[in-house]
Amino acid sequence: MRKFLYYAVPVALCFVVGMLGSYIQGSALVEWYPTLVKSPLSPPPILFPIVWSVLYLLMGLSIGVLIARGDMSVIKLWIVQLIVNFLWSVLFFGLRSPLLGLVAILLLDVLVFTYIIYAAGRSSAAAWLFVPYLLWLLLATYLNGYIYVYNRYPVTVAAAEVTQYPQQPTNKTNTTMHFSLPPLGYAADALAPAMSRETIDYHYGKHYKGYIDNLNRLIEGTRFERMSLHDIVLNADGVLYNNAAQALNHQLFFEGMTPVPQPIPAELKSRIERDFGSIDEMRDKFATAATSLFGSGWVWLVEERDGRLAVVSTPNGVNPINDHLNPLMVIDVWEHAYYIDYRNRRADFVKAYWPLIDWNKSAARLKVHKTATERV
Ligand SMILES: [Fe+2]
Repeated sequence: MRKFLYYAVPVALCFVVGMLGSYIQGSALVEWYPTLVKSPLSPPPILFPIVWSVLYLLMGLSIGVLIARGDMSVIKLWIVQLIVNFLWSVLFFGLRSPLLGLVAILLLDVLVFTYIIYAAGRSSAAAWLFVPYLLWLLLATYLNGYIYVYNRYPVTVAAAEVTQYPQQPTNKTNTTMHFSLPPLGYAADALAPAMSRETIDYHYGKHYKGYIDNLNRLIEGTRFERMSLHDIVLNADGVLYNNAAQALNHQLFFEGMTPVPQPIPAELKSRIERDFGSIDEMRDKFATAATSLFGSGWVWLVEERDGRLAVVSTPNGVNPINDHLNPLMVIDVWEHAYYIDYRNRRADFVKAYWPLIDWNKSAARLKVHKTATERV
């Protein structure tokens, strides 16, 4: 019975602290976290409560092992790190302060590492049970730091700030300016209610801008400085590819919308009917792809090299030019594109997006000019 309590009490304590922390994290993960500029390495929000639950169980078992061995020497250290963990949750998720959260989680890293070192001298099992926790903490530290660096804006974007969106096109003007945020072709509130001003402020003013800022930082002093955005996407890999492709994807997305619904120009309409059967069939295929794409990504109407049109999905930041496809029209189905207006109702966002499509832009992007009858 006593041995059972050695394990049960620490596990129960971890469970209580973990549930309190998860409760604090809950609303932030739903309302705040999806709107942030996050690293491409960010796990989906649903993973946070799952991973924390497992880790708290391992933490409790770790201290249980030591207590069962009659070694109480590190219990103070264990309790201190538990309190700091809870504090971090309050600062980062509760008060939504990435800076204070970063300070707390760095302290937590030190405490957990110290715990592992001390525990290793007493029981290898107690030390190993803490290792997954440390690895997850290191990822959380990186994400906390990334969010702090790339989200140093007020939570609410003031109207005056919206009018200060830059007016330069996304072109390199010299070797020091690199890329800049292109102007919106419409007012920030012109797409409402399908896409609210708040969504534009976050999506265009923060997320899209974040990718361009990252891109400029990453190409500084490299051979990519002298390339167009298109060529960077074709030649880069890793984090540079992710940011460059996201900059290009968002450029195509934002310039491809209009507040004034338009008919589809004749040539594009003819080719959609040729390759999909009808406009409605293409729209259904596009909507199905957009609603069924798992996780974050993009759904495109593309032109293949022989001029055939197709609907394709790409995960994360991948752009179809890497598969020699010419993007004509695209919808962003990252959760940051619709979470403010539609919460988790992606299908409603996809439906509302259709009337916003600037078909003149899509038609202007066609490269192969053959009519339905000319194509073999
Ligand atoms: Fe986006």
